Amino acid sequence: MFQPQLIKSILFLLLFFFIALPAQSLDDKTLENEKISGLLAKMTIDEKIGQLAQFNPDARPTEAGLKEIIRQGGVGSFLNAGSDRETKEKLQRVAVEESRLGIPLIFGRDVIHGFRTIFPIPLGQAASWNPLLVEKASAIAAREAVQTGVQWTFAPMMDIARDPRWGRIAESLGEDPVLAGELAAAMTRGFQGNNLSDPNRIAACAKHYVGYGAAEGGRDYNITFIPEQELRNVYLVPFKAAVDAGLATVMSAFNDLNGVPASGNAFTLRQVLRNEWGFDGFVVSDWTSMTEMINHGYCADEREVALKSLAAGVDMEMVSESYRNHVKELIESGQLDQKYLDQAVANILRIKIRLGLFENPYPVPEDKSVLLHPDHLQTARELAGQSLVLLKNKNILPVKPDVKTIAIIGPLADNPLDQLGTWAPDRNPDDSVTPLQAFRENAGGRKILFAKGMEKPRSMDRKHFSAAVDAAKKADVAIVFVGEDELLSGEAHSRAFINLPGLQEELIAAIAATKTPMVLVIMAGRPLTFPTQLEQADALLYAWHPGTMAGPALYDVLTGAIAPSGKLPVSFPRTVGQVPIYYNHRNTGRPPTADMLGIPLGTPEDPKGYVSNYLDADFTPQFPFGFGLSYTTFTYSALKLSTDKLLPGQELTVTVQLKNSGLMAAEEVVQLYTRDLTGSITRPVKELKAFRRVALKPGEKQDVQFVITEEDLAFWNAEMKFVAEPGKFEVMVGGSSADGDLLKAGFVLEKQN
Ligand code: NOJ
Repeated sequence: MFQPQLIKSILFLLLFFFIALPAQSLDDKTLENEKISGLLAKMTIDEKIGQLAQFNPDARPTEAGLKEIIRQGGVGSFLNAGSDRETKEKLQRVAVEESRLGIPLIFGRDVIHGFRTIFPIPLGQAASWNPLLVEKASAIAAREAVQTGVQWTFAPMMDIARDPRWGRIAESLGEDPVLAGELAAAMTRGFQGNNLSDPNRIAACAKHYVGYGAAEGGRDYNITFIPEQELRNVYLVPFKAAVDAGLATVMSAFNDLNGVPASGNAFTLRQVLRNEWGFDGFVVSDWTSMTEMINHGYCADEREVALKSLAAGVDMEMVSESYRNHVKELIESGQLDQKYLDQAVANILRIKIRLGLFENPYPVPEDKSVLLHPDHLQTARELAGQSLVLLKNKNILPVKPDVKTIAIIGPLADNPLDQLGTWAPDRNPDDSVTPLQAFRENAGGRKILFAKGMEKPRSMDRKHFSAAVDAAKKADVAIVFVGEDELLSGEAHSRAFINLPGLQEELIAAIAATKTPMVLVIMAGRPLTFPTQLEQADALLYAWHPGTMAGPALYDVLTGAIAPSGKLPVSFPRTVGQVPIYYNHRNTGRPPTADMLGIPLGTPEDPKGYVSNYLDADFTPQFPFGFGLSYTTFTYSALKLSTDKLLPGQELTVTVQLKNSGLMAAEEVVQLYTRDLTGSITRPVKELKAFRRVALKPGEKQDVQFVITEEDLAFWNAEMKFVAEPGKFEVMVGGSSADGDLLKAGFVLEKQN
């Protein structure tokens, strides 16, 4: 029915948004700038330098001394100022009420994958391929964190990670720039909301800028070599996505990038971040990453550190004190232009203003019901459920209704601490619900047996083996929870061996020998290698470290309350010797072919030709990027392109029919890849361009559409221009990045006339 009144109101509202909102935000900008210049005009050089300092309060000998520094305006920020609200409030009061200009402090903390409610580790969140749910989780983390006065998190981390030896892969969003970018933007929106001054939100920090994940040999803090095109086409992509999402802060990394450490790198910090992307928040160094430039051999002493870092564009110094000790003298001696100091202070004040700290410097009113709120736990359960990736299933999962006795086995079956994963400083293991608890609570008429088998994943003794074997013998199915202790991944926790640690491989072999059907659940902070265990198991579910609600989420999937729907955000090698192995590699002049597959692992064969291959392992990964099974089957068909000639400025619509051809309602992550067949520089064999989670009932079909534009095909080319080069492209759509899982079609990108 035609409703003129309704249409009028809609038009009015639209007009209001188009006219009123930008005007208001322009006003905000003007007010912001006036406030910044007003403060800068009043500040002494010492007060300005103070804003650049971020302290860890534990490193200060006395509280009285600390308060005096705050009173003098000698510090602008704290990290880890207690896990309570009182400490922060006490320090803030001194800044606001007793310092000359009353500039509030900003309190930062590592809120990485939840605050008190712990969500899956970021790599697990990435396996959900669900930006909306990831955004919701970050918003919850912010809401809990503000309860203790946290105003700023050092997250999201978006280092592209292609090396599972690197411990920090756990904190990453995987190997793909588009997936990591979408999730980094989602996390940024979740932490920050639409308005930074919302009391339930906190400022986000994109880290580690940039290239940190490319550490040679996967050894943390190691040097990196990344050619500029690769840097721009891969490593910088998620950072740009976060900046476009309104990101407030960036952290400069530890690594030496092509010979210039990231915390002294004017190219990445000034040229790319500020000049090209227009970032107007502030940059904080990583913990002593500035003074580590002396060890790198890039600076002779702390004075040179201060000079190079400030000139390069690091605004705030975390923990080390080169700015405090040297900036004044550097300016007075004419070696450092005062404008760098003023810019840095302005950047920091801008974010303090946007956070509303001048009006609301203290923690929000306390509300004890916020931490671990049932809604938060429900989201944690949902996200953990969607992060689980089913890698094998010989029709044993979900656990069948006629199963009467289940043996729950393994060092991670009832391990409230390790299931939370790395880097969750505000966690409390007492909050965790373990798999054993979940199975016991929901046992119904089933008998649940339990034997841990080993004390910890790294244990080296067999004293609990026989009890585990007995339990397996008495059961209809054994579910064995193995993996890594939480402290085997994370910062400075790289591994040279990435198999199951301790005697877990032996424990699995002992359970397998009972012939009771065996489900392996692996909880880990990285892709592990487990070729023998994969053969021994009847089903294998990869769980990462799922967080507080690991138990209920695993129970949901193992028993079939929901179908698994996670997809790998990173390729899984067959052996550590294949590393780095990632799907979006370039082709080489001698690519191996599929008929060369099937080389037994670790047994050198005669060469199968002079191609890029191994003699003792396949060239393919154990599991490809994007892979993950379901309890149902999905059939892809009828891939159609709206045109086979894409003209510049036009759109190409890709349509595929997805059918749930199995017997259970489930969700599938549909993935679209392209290949640019020739370029002015060689191009990856596949690049993820888009993805979508689709829920279908048994028998249901849906046409899934994606739109590709010229911009989606652009890359930094041989002339270092961001353009799409005309020529032939392939489009691939399916349920993983493996050739066998993809439907293919082609089109040509035409030249501009
Ligand atoms: C060092 C880590 O690299 C970084 O990710 C973290 O945010 C800071 N420490 C602060 O804890």
